[in-house]
Amino acid sequence: MATERMASLTRGLFVTFEGGEGAGKSTQISRLAESLRGDGHDVLLTREPGGSPGAEAVRHVLLSGAAESFGPAMEAILFAAARSDHVEQVIRPAVARGAIVLCDRFLDSSRVYQGITGNLDPAFMRALERVAINGMMPDLTIVLDIDPKEGLRRASARRGEGVADRFEKETLAIHRKRREAYLDIARREPGRCVVVDAAQAPDEVAAAIEAAVRGALAILDSVSRTEPAMAT
Ligand code: TYD
Repeated sequence: MATERMASLTRGLFVTFEGGEGAGKSTQISRLAESLRGDGHDVLLTREPGGSPGAEAVRHVLLSGAAESFGPAMEAILFAAARSDHVEQVIRPAVARGAIVLCDRFLDSSRVYQGITGNLDPAFMRALERVAINGMMPDLTIVLDIDPKEGLRRASARRGEGVADRFEKETLAIHRKRREAYLDIARREPGRCVVVDAAQAPDEVAAAIEAAVRGALAILDSVSRTEPAMAT
């Protein structure tokens, strides 16, 4: 029976993936999902902006550039609105049922893209973040780090004839600033963030990610074993 193979977790794990354009996030997330499912874990793969019907409706507005002319604060509020819906409709219930949630971009994308390169007031950004996540902080954040020049080359090769989205088309200097901002977050929050060199061969990147996630699962497992059983 399939349920017998389920590696049961008393509480799920929330893992987010961050990084600049062309770092290989989606390929690596799919690989990891496959490997964890192979072990019998309940894995939910999701992404931002989007991941719930309400948030997907907002995704189009943001990535088409329709909100760009209204300024970065308007965009930041829309990202936060989409995130709030995604958290409450999808992420929180999945973690509560014991799933491993793998999310392609989350709050650090807003900190970096809107907060740092959008030059928004840090207090405004913190307030938006608090409302959007409502306590749902990732247990682990994998930052895929790559030289933006290489990342943009990969993103454009992947896109082929397609057009760059609202954020991809920005200047190299802006992408460099984002890379530094991600590394800065990782330095400030070493308990949550793991930086992985995304310029390595895909197998090496996958191994580094897998080691970080398995480490987080082992911690979760040891915590649940030492917690006293709940009285029923
Ligand atoms: P997407 O097509 O999902 O691309 P990627 O492969 O780069 O993740 O585009 C998401 C874009 O939205 C990306 O350029 C980053 C940007 N973004 C923000 O600016 N703020 C946010 O909070 C999020 C989640 C994404």
